[in-house]
Amino acid sequence: MHGGSTEEFQRIRIIMKKDLLNLIDKAEKEHSLTQDELAKILENKEINQELFNAADRVREKYVGNEVQLRGLVEFSNMCSKNCFYCGLRKDNKNLKRYKLKPEIIIDFAEKAVSYGYKTLVLQSGEGDFYSTKEMSHIISEIKKLDVAITLSIGEKTEEEYKLFKEAGADRFLLRIETTDRELYKRMHPEMSHENRVNCLMTIKKLGYEVGTGSLIGLPNQTIESLAGDILFFKELEADMIGIGPFIPNEDTPLAAEKSGTFEMSLKVMALTRLLLPDINIPATTAMESLNPDGRIIALQSGANVVMPNVTEGEYRALYKLYPGKICINDTPTHCRGCITGKIHSINRTVSKDYGFRKKNYTNQ
Ligand code: SAM
Ligand code: SF4
Ligand code: FES
Repeated sequence: MHGGSTEEFQRIRIIMKKDLLNLIDKAEKEHSLTQDELAKILENKEINQELFNAADRVREKYVGNEVQLRGLVEFSNMCSKNCFYCGLRKDNKNLKRYKLKPEIIIDFAEKAVSYGYKTLVLQSGEGDFYSTKEMSHIISEIKKLDVAITLSIGEKTEEEYKLFKEAGADRFLLRIETTDRELYKRMHPEMSHENRVNCLMTIKKLGYEVGTGSLIGLPNQTIESLAGDILFFKELEADMIGIGPFIPNEDTPLAAEKSGTFEMSLKVMALTRLLLPDINIPATTAMESLNPDGRIIALQSGANVVMPNVTEGEYRALYKLYPGKICINDTPTHCRGCITGKIHSINRTVSKDYGFRKKNYTNQ
């Protein structure tokens, strides 16, 4: 390459960086970007820190310095679905399965409340391993503990979602995983993208706070589709968005695939904060599984929620979505102390309320 063309290359690089910084600035003020603009920011590595700083400022302005803690109860690893990436998929025969009895789930919830949690997330594989009546009973008993309840139990019928809402559930978490329909089809045999979207609409219609999100780094996932994911979150007017890297599990068809990156997950998360300024965004467990300071870095790049594990005993290790999952040998009390210490170390505080989204941005 001639000296002149190297200079020319440098000049173009500087102009491009300046353009991208202008876009980040615009997003910080107007909370809007096109798919093409989002993709350009995702593609370029030179503006990362400026992006994270902007997301941190928007987080502070709209949701403040309190961090919401939500206790995660992983109450069953039984699953009737076969998502290609997940260790709980039904065809994985290398996993000891468990299904906690309702009284044990309620007992774990009581313990979590005694550690100070005001919100619990009840998560499991998908399927009819509990009857609707049993699930409603679990929800209504836990509701008596004066907590907000999030369900993360997959696709259900409208009738079931309605009954769970009536039993006391406040929020529902159902990631869209990807808005690329072809990729969705490849990753989810016998599932339909259309039904996933319909479930999210139903959940919203029924008055739940809606949580969704994406996996970052699925095989052959494009930058454009990640940009499309962010626009989907905005269009849905989601209340909570969880973004996490895909981590390959040796007992799945994606065993030999590359992991998603921490960096790209953080960038999608930060852009989500810029476009949906007042929603709740967790610093996800999968992020920390790739980077030992992952959750703290995420909390400084747009996130305002952490979901520490409150599952007791051996079940933590058996809820094996992917290898290297953090906290599998720890106790709920240890995790509560650990995460509180980390939050204080960055001059943030732990919220004492139920953590509902406080809408203070209307132009969405
Ligand atoms: N079964 C419910 C569902 O699919 O909505 C809830 C439980 S599922 C285990 C929760 C989330 O785990 C999924 O939405 C998915 O994004 C994430 N997950 C599964 N396998 C993963 C992997 N290998 N790497 C990162 N995240 C994974
Ligand atoms: Fe089952 Fe959810 Fe895992 Fe899919 S992601 S296999 S539905 S637990
Ligand atoms: Fe579980 Fe730190 S949050 S050990």
